[in-house]
Amino acid sequence: MYSRRDHDIYISVAHLFCILCMKVIFGVRLKIMSISSEYVKIRLATKDDIDSVIAINIECLPEHYPYSFWLEHLEKWGDVFYVAEVDGHVVGYVLTRVEEGFSRCRGEEAKIGHIVSVAVKEEYRGRGIATALLTAAISALRSIYGVEEIQLEVRISNYKAIKLYEKLGFIKAERIKNYYLDGEDSYLMIKNVLEKPCNIKSIE
Ligand SMILES: CC(C)(COP(=O)(O)OP(=O)(O)OC[C@H]1O[C@@H](n2cnc3c(N)ncnc32)[C@H](O)[C@@H]1OP(=O)(O)O)[C@@H](O)C(=O)NCCC(=O)NCCS
Repeated sequence: MYSRRDHDIYISVAHLFCILCMKVIFGVRLKIMSISSEYVKIRLATKDDIDSVIAINIECLPEHYPYSFWLEHLEKWGDVFYVAEVDGHVVGYVLTRVEEGFSRCRGEEAKIGHIVSVAVKEEYRGRGIATALLTAAISALRSIYGVEEIQLEVRISNYKAIKLYEKLGFIKAERIKNYYLDGEDSYLMIKNVLEKPCNIKSIE
């Protein structure tokens, strides 16, 4: 039976930092001694996390949603809504949902996973936290819901996020004009999660 605990993933930031230190400044003893003892825990979100998640969303992104939006996602798709926790504090989240939609890869209606929002507090970025959150969500979207494809929209100016998604196997499927309220275009990015190849190629 599916257990929430099964999806808890622990990353030792100290371990990652240590590897980085060894790579970049191998031999400099002082830097290696300043290793952080923080641990990042990737776990499913609960109702108690919603206020923290909203605060991170407001801090990191221009697209905000009311409390009821987050609660609805938690109630309907709580098994694909993850948070990252450091020392008992939420420092990042990924909110996803499942839709019946149009598969770009297959050219037909299919079960689609949608990454609605992802953010990591600025001081915790660059440590692989978003990668870990998205990897957990993608894995759960496949194993729990059997989605065929995962889609998301990203601002065309959001270089960091586009790099992150490309690293995780997403391709730019389409550029959508004036997608955001301020008039910026988005890329619709998709990730094929079936064994069968995808029928479309990246537009850039
Ligand atoms: C985008 C965001 C979620 C990345 O979080 P993160 O925890 O720093 O990401 P990771 O450490 O897992 O980085 C994964 C990849 O993202 C890309 N990336 C992250 N930071 C980057 C930067 N400063 N410059 C270029 N690429 C970057 C890289 O490809 C990186 O892989 P690498 O470390 O092998 O080079 C974070 O910057 C953020 O919260 N931004 C504001 C909110 C946002 O834009 N969300 C996306 C909305 S669509």
